[in-house]
Amino acid sequence: MPALIVGNWKMNGLGEDIAEIAAMAGSGARAVWIAPPFTLIDRAVIVSAGAVKIGGQDCHAKDKGAHTGCVSAAMLADLGAGFVIVGHSERRRDNGEGDADVRAKAAAGLAAGLEVILCIGETREQRDAGQTDAVLSRQLAGSLPDTAEGLIIAYEPVWAIGTGLTPTLADVAAAHGHIRTELVGRFGSAGHGVRILYGGSVTPANAGELLGVAEVGGLLVGGASLTAQSLLAIAAAA
Ligand code: 13P
Repeated sequence: MPALIVGNWKMNGLGEDIAEIAAMAGSGARAVWIAPPFTLIDRAVIVSAGAVKIGGQDCHAKDKGAHTGCVSAAMLADLGAGFVIVGHSERRRDNGEGDADVRAKAAAGLAAGLEVILCIGETREQRDAGQTDAVLSRQLAGSLPDTAEGLIIAYEPVWAIGTGLTPTLADVAAAHGHIRTELVGRFGSAGHGVRILYGGSVTPANAGELLGVAEVGGLLVGGASLTAQSLLAIAAAA
């Protein structure tokens, strides 16, 4: 399985930035996915012409209804999106989303035919208190959907996001190994097939060594995914 490089644009990107996605799509790079803001998904799907998979950064747990300002997984699929990110720590922090919400969103994404990138990760305080494995186990127990089919996990230590800090490679290996054990415990042999991404301050400079860690099946990239130049340099490391 080639490593998967996923760019999460967060609340960044105006119409002019579609050129970056067009450049990524035109590069011939394989296994590059981008989650632009909702407002750019339609245009991103068109310019990427299938070469870059486009996805959403979140979805509602319901298909439709009286939920002002929300976007459903069915709506994302209708636009031609191929995946959705759920449970990002910024959603958990800014929107009070808990594991049960994340589980419902993951189920909605899978039901809509999307691949689902489910994010988990510990805070600095939890790591310092030696609780990393316990936190990851709790988040997985509360948020995993019923099936492994279409599921991807992203391990994103909260303290590594946007800070320039990354865990040691040994700590990344330990966390990913723990997540794999939990996935196999939950899904049996299908748990071996679930890809596990690392995210948090990934750059062109550290991508290669992170991708060399056991059980790291790809990277979820924030700031360094905003330009084709930077994201393609990360993809080249894959
Ligand atoms: P940065 O790469 O900017 O640290 O963000 C990581 C992230 O949150 C991706 O979802």
